[in-house]
Amino acid sequence: MSCSLRPVGRAQRAPLERLVRATDRFRESEVRTAVELLDEALAGDDDYRFVGAYEGEALVGYACWGPTPGTEGTHDLYWIVVAPERQGAGIGRTLLADVERKLTADGGRLLVAETSGRADYAPTRAFYEKHGFIRAATVPGYYAPADDLVIYTKDLTDGELARAAP
Ligand SMILES: CC(C)(COP(=O)(O)OP(=O)(O)OC[C@H]1O[C@@H](n2cnc3c(N)ncnc32)[C@H](O)[C@@H]1OP(=O)(O)O)[C@@H](O)C(=O)NCCC(=O)NCCS
Repeated sequence: MSCSLRPVGRAQRAPLERLVRATDRFRESEVRTAVELLDEALAGDDDYRFVGAYEGEALVGYACWGPTPGTEGTHDLYWIVVAPERQGAGIGRTLLADVERKLTADGGRLLVAETSGRADYAPTRAFYEKHGFIRAATVPGYYAPADDLVIYTKDLTDGELARAAP
């Protein structure tokens, strides 16, 4: 079944919470944060933007991103999540492409995604690497002992960032 992309509204608040929890990737505090970001977006906060992937009326994935404070044109990809039973079917790729299209149209330059270096996050890292992100930095032990922060970045300027480097 193909998915369609639409905004994430108030009616998706509980489905989004279930979706994030169902991945088994996030601590309860992170699940709460995911919902809080949606609440802020629904209250009009433009720092957090959402797009949902739907099969019929069912929310099967979403992405949340926003401008990184204190930067020019850098954006954080805060969350990209696909329902476990629908992973590997191209929904993540579709969501990411939509985020990138919107950012590029909006003058976005750099997209940053943070994830864990743990073995169980290997599929997530593979997803970013497959989609043109480079592993820009690792912070050992950031999340917990032996749980590194891995920072991925993607140049949205078709190489301009690299060419401008000293
Ligand atoms: C990461 C995630 C969003 C990817 O979404 P998805 O719909 O499963 O990914 P797609 O089907 O679009 O995969 C696109 C590509 O990524 C790669 N990929 C995806 N899952 C992979 C896996 N488990 N192992 C290796 N590569 C994988 C594939 O190479 C695939 O390329 P292909 O289209 O040529 O086959 C999804 O797996 C997910 O929700 N994971 C749990 C939550 C998470 O870790 N989110 C990121 C941090 S917020």
